[in-house]
Amino acid sequence: LASIQVDISGVEEGTQLTVKWLGKPVFFRHRTQTEIDEARAVDVDTLIDPTAQNPNVGNGAPAPATDQNRALDEDGKWLVMIGVCTHLGCVPIGNGSGEFDGWFCPCHGSHYDSAGRIRKGPAPQNLHVPVAEFVDETTIKLG
Ligand code: FES
Repeated sequence: LASIQVDISGVEEGTQLTVKWLGKPVFFRHRTQTEIDEARAVDVDTLIDPTAQNPNVGNGAPAPATDQNRALDEDGKWLVMIGVCTHLGCVPIGNGSGEFDGWFCPCHGSHYDSAGRIRKGPAPQNLHVPVAEFVDETTIKLG
């Protein structure tokens, strides 16, 4: 698997960087405290997809889709996700789009929340988190 390192130092809070990796867009969202608080207030039992869809947590077993299991850092400032709708593969629009302050897929109307979890519409799964880790404070390695 091809690894790349992404410099996130220029990504302001409340914005998103999109990088192409292995032919797919990957979103690096620097979340606001409001986005984090909203995502952490959600009851996981009410989610369409209750699994974190994050290979970085759970030691290979499906982990619950808590916001803590979705974000890359403990404080939840950074959310890294593959920008491909889990319905039929369109690229969702970000920057607080949709009814849940996250991403909206215009192809068939899927709404993802500020943790990238599917909340309404035909998509069956949360946006997938790629294998990722911090190399240093401003660099994230994919793969
Ligand atoms: Fe996103 Fe269908 S591809 S809602």
